[in-house]
Amino acid sequence: MNILKQISLKLRFIRLERFIASLIYTFQRDWADRQYHSSQKVQPLTTPGRLLTVEKTSQGAQFSFEKAQVEIEFLSPELVRVNWQPGLAPVPYGIVQQDWPEVDLQLQDTEQGKIIRSDRLKVIVKPEGGIEFQDANGRVLRQELPPQRRGEAWQQEALLRSPEQIYGLGERAAPFNLRASQNPRYQMWHYDAGGKYGPGSDPLYLCIPVYMGLHDNGSYLVFYENSFSATFTLGDSAIAAFAGGALRYYMIAAEPAKAIALYTQLTGRPPLPPRWAFGYHQSRWGYETEEAVRETAQGFQKHNLPLSAIHLDIDCKDNFRSFTIDPDRFPKLREFNQEMAEEGVNMVAIVNPGVKRDRRSQLYREGVSQDIFCKLPNGNIVHAPVWPGMSAFPDFTHPLARHWWSRQYEYLLDMGIAGFWHDMNDPGVFALWGDATLPKATQHFMEGRGGIHLEAHNIYGLQQARAGYEALRDSRPSRRPFIVSRSGWAGLQRYAWTWTGDIETSWGGLGQTLPTVLGMGLSGIPYTGPDIGGFKGNPSAELYLRWFQLSTFLPFCRTHSANNVKPRTPWGYGLHVLDCVRSLLQLRYQLIPYFYTLAWEATHQGYPPVRPLFWSEPENSELWGMDDAFFLGDGLLVYPIVKDKVRSRLAVFPQGQWYKFTDDTIIEGSQRLRLEVPLEEIPLFVKAGTVLPMEQGEHLTLHLYPPTEGNSRGFLYSDAGDGYGESRLDQIHLERTPEGLAIAWESQGDYPFPYSSVELQIHGMAVQQVWMDGTEVEFQQPQEQPRTAMRIAPGVSISGDKFKRVQIQGEFRQPDPSSSFNPRQSYPTNGL
Ligand code: GLC
Repeated sequence: MNILKQISLKLRFIRLERFIASLIYTFQRDWADRQYHSSQKVQPLTTPGRLLTVEKTSQGAQFSFEKAQVEIEFLSPELVRVNWQPGLAPVPYGIVQQDWPEVDLQLQDTEQGKIIRSDRLKVIVKPEGGIEFQDANGRVLRQELPPQRRGEAWQQEALLRSPEQIYGLGERAAPFNLRASQNPRYQMWHYDAGGKYGPGSDPLYLCIPVYMGLHDNGSYLVFYENSFSATFTLGDSAIAAFAGGALRYYMIAAEPAKAIALYTQLTGRPPLPPRWAFGYHQSRWGYETEEAVRETAQGFQKHNLPLSAIHLDIDCKDNFRSFTIDPDRFPKLREFNQEMAEEGVNMVAIVNPGVKRDRRSQLYREGVSQDIFCKLPNGNIVHAPVWPGMSAFPDFTHPLARHWWSRQYEYLLDMGIAGFWHDMNDPGVFALWGDATLPKATQHFMEGRGGIHLEAHNIYGLQQARAGYEALRDSRPSRRPFIVSRSGWAGLQRYAWTWTGDIETSWGGLGQTLPTVLGMGLSGIPYTGPDIGGFKGNPSAELYLRWFQLSTFLPFCRTHSANNVKPRTPWGYGLHVLDCVRSLLQLRYQLIPYFYTLAWEATHQGYPPVRPLFWSEPENSELWGMDDAFFLGDGLLVYPIVKDKVRSRLAVFPQGQWYKFTDDTIIEGSQRLRLEVPLEEIPLFVKAGTVLPMEQGEHLTLHLYPPTEGNSRGFLYSDAGDGYGESRLDQIHLERTPEGLAIAWESQGDYPFPYSSVELQIHGMAVQQVWMDGTEVEFQQPQEQPRTAMRIAPGVSISGDKFKRVQIQGEFRQPDPSSSFNPRQSYPTNGL
């Protein structure tokens, strides 16, 4: 884009008074980049040369080449760390586990090269520095050419197999399989997509140098522990070219679930969020006064819509300054937050990292006197324009700066703010052309080792999230932190949720949501979701409803929009849409025990709640490229509609049997079907074998879908919903017996069972007799229910209390002949 066009585009978003500051800053940034960071002169490429010596170490081996060394360490039988030197070693911001138990290894000398192997993974180091990874059966998972070095920067090329799929790289506006993009080049440099972005925009706010590869021989995951700016090109090979730093990466050879479990063992698992976070969040850049917020909350009450949080954007602040809320427009902040809390509404306040340059501001003065702010090599503080005007930026790579920052949350916490929304922390600033961030040579403390923005840029938001998380944990030890952060890096999951930023209001924007969320999940980020309806623009009723339907099943369910669009609430689109949204929200709240149990699973295994179709069937290549359907946990399968006026779609069913949620039609898996989809519905299926917990107040319904054969089990995690007290895990086992179905209940943990009544609903069975803990009990046949959108089909109902064992005599229903479906249509690769 030429400079004039860039300027005129920016002008549409930046008001005139900010224009001058942005103009000045852009010149200053260019000056600083020229002065301190002139692009290095082209230097020759070097390769490692020939292998000279190999030395076994306690966890692997050290290989010395003529011009480089590589250390290979097995951290687990499936996980190796490969560390090429020379190069600046990373500050381990991404890593939580440094010490790993020793692994049984063998070192062999073969014709192919030196092999170092565990019982799961063989690493073959070639005489010229190429590395090949094979599974225990000798199947090749990944082949790397000898890496290359130009000046201080490493570049690595790995060959890709022709059907190989690549997923991840953090947040991307690309197809889920990143190789399927028309331009499969991805920048690793967080970017404020400024106002709106759409499919194909690259980069976005949250890049992570991690990807999963999947092909005929298996799957693997590679994480480069290098935060320098980089480019990843995914053509016939995957080329990762970094602007600096050592070439250190982790290679995990495992099926997808195990790979994510190991990756999150390395980079951290997400802590349990407060339970309310799984409710619905309403947000808008435009709630300027207490009254506007109150009216919104009342609108939800009036229309009988549940609501768990309202987010306050920059317009609630005192001249856009960090950690303030305008006392004139929110005159009784504490009482107001209290009033909202009593209605079950948690207030979440935005916090931007820029601190306004103002000698009268204590925050700024303190930052200067304590030497907290980022500086140029000449010692001058970097000031750049953001919402409040020219601002300074704390250096979050300094522990003192994090500590200082973390103290600033106290005032808003005291006022009853329940969570924080970290925005603009890519970090984004206003610039009229070029890179809208800090100059590349900006100095960073990097925990004492020192570094420049070229390396620190991508971990800036991560370290801000760390400061915020620690602030909340320390100042309110009995409550769990809730932070939503626009930017981050590997490990963000330890501190914060995120959202997919300023996505455009369009069908393309809606279609992009799921591939982006799926890719984040495979990059270790479990909790995300979009601005429902898109950021900038006014969605049609149909677009809004379809976006809502999808988001009902995503971890972070929030409507948000820009300041210059119409207020976006469920009652703004007529009665029919309101009814549909109400039934979606009611369903979402009934499913909170399911979401919460998935959160417990994420905390223990790192699994994202939103999973690709190949998650448990990675060998089925038909599922590899599917980015218009997903699993929520293992039990729910969702086929969103992301196109205008579409009333049917094709669906690939994974193996197993699938119950249509709304009418219990049973579908045999491993086939393709066309689904009829009225506007009011989003196709939702439950896998045979699932135990689906749903709640209504203190009443728990366990929906049981018998396994197709043998056993299955489901979990229900409960605790107080916040804090760090007792918890409990209820496990429900289902077993097919010669007579019918046996159900056994086991509990662990000291948290009292939180429900006063329990009902079992058995799906897919004609029940004849039921015994609960040895005594015969009554059961009720399903009652016909009025046909409303998105209501679960009722099963045979057994009311009772907690039990140990239930035995059911009855007949299992067979998969339905596909009455409302047209079976076995051929499936075009790209969806509809
Ligand atoms: C950025 C954010 C957006 C927010 C706006 C104003 O564009 O991405 O969510 O509403 O800034 O704070």
